[in-house]
Amino acid sequence: MFRTPGVPTGAHLADEAIVVRSAGPLSGEVHVPGAKNSVLKLMAATLLTDGRFELTNVPDIADVRIMAELLAAIGVTTETPEPGRLVLTDRGDLTPVAPYELVERIRASINVLGPLLTRCGHVRMSMPGGDDFGARPIDMHVAGLEAMGATFKFGHGEVEASADRLHGADITFDFPSVGATENLLTAAVYAHGITRIDNAAREPEIIDLCQFLVKMGAQIEGIGTSTLVITGVERGSLRAVSHSTVPDRIQAATYLAAVAVSGGRLTITGARADHMEMVLVRAREMGLVIEQAPGGITVEAPERLRSIDVATLPYPGIATDYKPLIITMLGVADGVGIVTENLYPGRFRYVEELQRLGADIRTNGHHAVVRGVPRLSGAPVRAHDIRAGAAMVVAGLAAEGVTTITGVHHIDRGYDDLVGRLRGVGADLERVSVG
Ligand code: UD1
Repeated sequence: MFRTPGVPTGAHLADEAIVVRSAGPLSGEVHVPGAKNSVLKLMAATLLTDGRFELTNVPDIADVRIMAELLAAIGVTTETPEPGRLVLTDRGDLTPVAPYELVERIRASINVLGPLLTRCGHVRMSMPGGDDFGARPIDMHVAGLEAMGATFKFGHGEVEASADRLHGADITFDFPSVGATENLLTAAVYAHGITRIDNAAREPEIIDLCQFLVKMGAQIEGIGTSTLVITGVERGSLRAVSHSTVPDRIQAATYLAAVAVSGGRLTITGARADHMEMVLVRAREMGLVIEQAPGGITVEAPERLRSIDVATLPYPGIATDYKPLIITMLGVADGVGIVTENLYPGRFRYVEELQRLGADIRTNGHHAVVRGVPRLSGAPVRAHDIRAGAAMVVAGLAAEGVTTITGVHHIDRGYDDLVGRLRGVGADLERVSVG
C-alpha cells in the first residue's frame, strides 16, 4: 500500500542498513522520478492560495512526507490517491507558524517563509535544519524580504517576519542562492509593484517553480535566466493548479555513477539531458558513452574510468550535490583528479567513509585530491547525508566483498527506492534490519 503522508515509515528507523555486494555489469532500464528539490518547493508554494492542487511525478521520499506534515500543521491537507500523485487542499484557514519539530528536519522548510509572509502578512518559524554539511545561513532570504518591506525579529531559535503588504524591489544577490531565489520569487508574486532579482539562481528546479507560479497566474519574466522580473498581482488572485514535477537530475546522476563504477549499459528514463549538460560533458571526459534515448539517456561504461578535475558551481555548473558521486567515480578511475568545492566548504565528511573502503583521497580546505585505485574494498560505512549516502551505495558497487551502509534514513529523505531500482538493473544489494 502506498504510504500516507504524516505516517512514520520504517525508513525512519535507525535500525536498517543497506548491504551491497560487488556487482557485475548493470543492464536494463531504470526510471527517475520527480526531483526532491523541486517538489518540496512546489508544495510550499501551494501556501500562496486556497483550493485544490495536484502534483504528479512526485517521488516517494521521506522529505515529501515531512513537508506534508509541515503543511498540515499550517493548515493544508495532503493526500496521495496513488503513487506519484499528491493532492493538496488549502481551505483558506492557515496558521502561519512552522514548528521546530518539523522545520529542523528539512532545509526546504525555509520555503514556507515567502508564501506565508506575502499571503498572511505574518509568519513565525523555527530556523531551518537539513543536511549536516556546515552552516547554512538565511541572510540573503532576510535581506531580500527586508528590501521588499518586511521586518524581522530573531530570538530563541525562531524567526518572525511581518509586512502588511510587501512591495517590489531591485535585489542583486552576491551569490545565486537557490533557496533565497525561491523565497523572493514566491513572496514577490503578491508584492505591490515590480521585483527584479539579479544574479538569481537558474537551476531546473527554479524554472519548474516559475512555471508552476505562472500557471497559477503569477507574472514572471526572465524564466531560466539570472534576471527574474516579477510583477505582483492582487493578493488572493492566484489559483490552484495541477503540475508535473521536473525529473530529478541528481537521482539520474546516481544511476549514471552506478553504471560507471559497475560497468555495463543503462537506459535512464526520465533523465533530462538538457538539465544535466555539464555533468554529462564531464562524464564523457571520464570515458562514459552517453546518448539521448526516447524519454531519457543511455549510459555505457568504459573498461576503466579516466580521472578529471572538477569544481562545483551554481547551475549550469556542476552541482555540489553531484560531488560525492563524482568523488566515488574518481576513486576507481585511472589517474588523479582534483575536486574543488565552491559552495559548502565542509562538504567532505563522507571522504573518511570512502577511505574506509580503500579510496585514496586527501582533502585540504575546499579541495580533494583523489588517486584512483582499481577496486575498493567492502567495509561497514555510514551515510552522513542524502547524497553522501547514495555515494556510499555506489561505492559499495565498486568494492570487492560486502559493504554495509548505516544511516539509511538519510538516503530515504531523497531517494525513491534506490535499492529496488538498482536491483532491477542487476545490482546485488538489499535492505536489512540490524540490531
Ligand atoms: C539547495 C538544495 C541543495 C543544494 C544547494 C546548492 C534544496 C532543498 N537544497 O540548497 O541540495 O546543494 O541548493 O545547489 O533545494 N547561503 C548564504 N546565505 C543565504 C543562503 C545561502 O550564505 O541566505 C550560502 C549557503 O550557505 C551555501 C550557498 O549559499 O554556501 C548555497 O546555498 P543555496 O543555493 O541557498 O542552497 P540551498 O537552497 O540551501
